[in-house]
Amino acid sequence: MPKRMQAPKKKTAPLLKKDHALHIVDGRTLKEYTVPIQHGSIHAPDLRQIRASETDFGLLSYDPSFQNTASCKSGITFIDGNAGILRYRGYPIEELAGNRNYLEVAYLLINGRLPGKNQLAEWLHNITYHTMLHENIKKFMDDFHHDAHPMGMLVCTLAGLSTFYPEAKAIFDTDLRQRQIHRLIAKMPTIAAFAYRHSIGMAYIYPSNDLGYAENLLAMMHRPSWTTDYTPDPVLSKALDLLFVLHADHEQNCSTEAMRTVGSAHADPYTCAAAAAAALYGPLHGGANEQVIRMLKEVRTKENIPKLIRQVKAGRRLLMGFGHRIYKNRDPRAEIIKKVASDVFAVTGRNPLLDIALELEKVAISDDYFIKRHLYPNVDFYSGIIYQSMGFPVDMFPVLFAIPRMSGWLAQWQEMLLDPEQRITRPRQLYVGSRLRHIPEAEQPS
Ligand code: CMC
Repeated sequence: MPKRMQAPKKKTAPLLKKDHALHIVDGRTLKEYTVPIQHGSIHAPDLRQIRASETDFGLLSYDPSFQNTASCKSGITFIDGNAGILRYRGYPIEELAGNRNYLEVAYLLINGRLPGKNQLAEWLHNITYHTMLHENIKKFMDDFHHDAHPMGMLVCTLAGLSTFYPEAKAIFDTDLRQRQIHRLIAKMPTIAAFAYRHSIGMAYIYPSNDLGYAENLLAMMHRPSWTTDYTPDPVLSKALDLLFVLHADHEQNCSTEAMRTVGSAHADPYTCAAAAAAALYGPLHGGANEQVIRMLKEVRTKENIPKLIRQVKAGRRLLMGFGHRIYKNRDPRAEIIKKVASDVFAVTGRNPLLDIALELEKVAISDDYFIKRHLYPNVDFYSGIIYQSMGFPVDMFPVLFAIPRMSGWLAQWQEMLLDPEQRITRPRQLYVGSRLRHIPEAEQPS
């Protein structure tokens, strides 16, 4: 063994000088490489210089599902999963929630700073005046089957909007890009409400310029069509707005990655947003809040909780609303949501599912299976119970997640477009299929 490969003896000086670099010895060639460390990471393309032979392609890193790979540098959202910290543009989520409304937070995510008085007035004007849908989009939505899932309708309608705004392809034109950002944020509640009204066979209610963002959604969903005299309960509007703040962004999650990936091919933002919403529809992502309610309804009484826990521990099902790829101690959003619940229940009456959820949480967090795996309630565990108490059907839950997440998707999409280091997304693979083979001569055309 060459000298540099021997284990250092006790108390000897370190073999290498302390520096911000990773020193690698390739066991196949015994060659030594130095790879710089920046922001606690190495630049994966640096590994390509490590080759077993002249013709070797170079070393790849293998990371299925991106468990330990940073795909971008981002200045939008900071999460420390071990400490349970979530910050948007440096501001703790606990300070934003309750002190700033959703549209201020959307501005913050997209522009990097909280709006001043004039900026806020202009932003609110731009969002308010883009809430209407083209009548043909309304007709397009009319053609969905009566029991179409509203999330499926949302995904298709977002993609459909791309055909209404061909100018959106000019993604590097700052003014046009801003206009699509306004449109997308503004139209989300309208699309969501139309999808709901379609599913219950009721006339669409148009957005009102006099109402706030969350208020408008509630009015478009719940206002009886025979009256214009309807004001949503201010406590419920405020609670919904706060839930929107909590859901606005969550750095490089599955749907954001879809937004960035499709955006990296320079598709227009409507097409990218449709892809992001499609990812969010999955039951492991934004569809989880819907699954939590279905699970709690199935449990029905506290007495059935041990049975559910047994099934989960036997690997037969997941405890929906538990666990997170990043948070391994607590999800700060879940804690804020728990507090919102009491404000909502003061208006709507206590949701009986809450008692089952609280008991389920108590049992799970003191069980070894969940402790060892660092599984705690995530944002979806309690949000569904609140949505249900507010009168939203479960099918609408992922849509309620998508509405505010649009601002995060757009902030991330814009950051990706303006980042000179980003190119079209193109992961590598490890090919493990058949070696070269040929169709037998007898089967070849003569
Ligand atoms: N119930 C039971 N076991 C679980 C759960 C769960 N909810 N989540 C993870 N585990 C187990 C998993 O089986 C694995 O066990 P083992 O080590 O024995 O194989 C261990 O915990 C580690 O989990 P993992 O699958 O490696 O975790 P992940 O980071 O790949 O998945 C997750 C994260 C959120 C997809 C997963 O926890 C899950 O499926 N949770 C239920 C769905 C859910 O609530 N999703 C909402 C996420 S928060 C909202 C959002 O951002 O979308």
